[in-house]
Amino acid sequence: MLGADLRVPLADGRSARYVNLDYAATAPALACVAERVNAVLPYAGSVHRGSGVPSRVASGLYENARESVGQRLGARADDHVIFTRNTTDATNLLAACVPAGRGDVVTLDVEHHANLLPWRRAACGTRVVAHAPTLAETLVRVEDALGAAPAALLAITGASNVTGEVLPLEEIVAIARRHGTRVFVDAAQLAPHRAIDLAESGVDYLALSGHKAYAPYGAGVLVGRADWLDAAPPYLAGGGAVVEVTVDDVAWADGPRRHEAGTPNLAGAVALAAALDALAELPLADHEAALRRTLLEGLGAIAGVTTLSIWSDTPDAIGTVAFTVEGYAPGLVGAYLSAEHGIGLRDGRFCAHPLLARFGLPDGAVRASFGLGSRHADAERLIAAIEKLVTDGPANTYNQTSEGWLPADDRRDLTTWLGADVSRAKASPCERRRHAV
Ligand code: ALA
Repeated sequence: MLGADLRVPLADGRSARYVNLDYAATAPALACVAERVNAVLPYAGSVHRGSGVPSRVASGLYENARESVGQRLGARADDHVIFTRNTTDATNLLAACVPAGRGDVVTLDVEHHANLLPWRRAACGTRVVAHAPTLAETLVRVEDALGAAPAALLAITGASNVTGEVLPLEEIVAIARRHGTRVFVDAAQLAPHRAIDLAESGVDYLALSGHKAYAPYGAGVLVGRADWLDAAPPYLAGGGAVVEVTVDDVAWADGPRRHEAGTPNLAGAVALAAALDALAELPLADHEAALRRTLLEGLGAIAGVTTLSIWSDTPDAIGTVAFTVEGYAPGLVGAYLSAEHGIGLRDGRFCAHPLLARFGLPDGAVRASFGLGSRHADAERLIAAIEKLVTDGPANTYNQTSEGWLPADDRRDLTTWLGADVSRAKASPCERRRHAV
């Protein structure tokens, strides 16, 4: 794992081994993925566009990556594997391909914005089902929604990016099938933690991001049924997506190329294929279940700390735990953990505003997320740091600024890190409420 033994400066001038509890946002690169990318880079010729040997090799490597990703995800023989920038890009692509006349797109209110907002742009429209206190009841509500009006697509997450709760995909597919509805799975969170097989599960479409799957090289993927993808207008208009162009007409290509105009991201595709290969050999479920248990028990024993869950009956969850600390804004907790303990995680509303609103948390929460490089000591460091916060309060003073919460007294000089200009690194405005400072 690259960066596994990173040391980070603390606000008081000391340093600490970095505890990365932000895998759900971006996972570090696996060393074998970086090695594979480095091996391929000398052949970084023009994919699908050149006569030189590097160009031909690059084209072959790119198509090998496509085939390998499809195989790892259990794609059916006639599915398309389309490389995208990330899950959001893939969802937007599919949203533009849902055919008219088959009904709308149904989603849940627990979804990440990437699985809510693209459907609002879809010509067929969208309905959002409010989740119930139990998963069982929520699935009844989904079935009721599919029965109440035709739905072309049920778009659902594989695992919540806020609480880590995993959804039962085969049961969901069975519900959708009863109503002639196809299923899209936002697997951005699930894929780095669990094997997914499209053919076996019956899922029609799936999207994931390389940067959450140990391949932070800028590629994601959309895999699924060819008919809608071949019938839709190309996602991007440009070179590579065409068969023939005249000054006033164009014949678009079929297949993945139809939606991949422009020179594709060779390093991203190769990295994603290598990462999925590596993940297949590195089962994570037991390790992260143990870490999750430790964290839930440890945080649960601290007065004023509340861990979040959407449902009371979810049978499975990945290593993602969200929580609040009474009396402390989530942004302050995040800044404190970084400045005083060298722990990195995410605070805010996690691009899931409707879910955080349902939790009654307009300022959001704090989220710790584990992955392949996580150690038991990482969970213990977080528990000890939160215990200290609740018992003694922070050592520093924290102010809410336009750049987010920052310690008043901060001796860290991050420009020594590859010249990074952190004054430009403003927090995303969507993490805070609109009226907050
Ligand atoms: N979608 C990523 C997350 O949930 C960024 O953190």
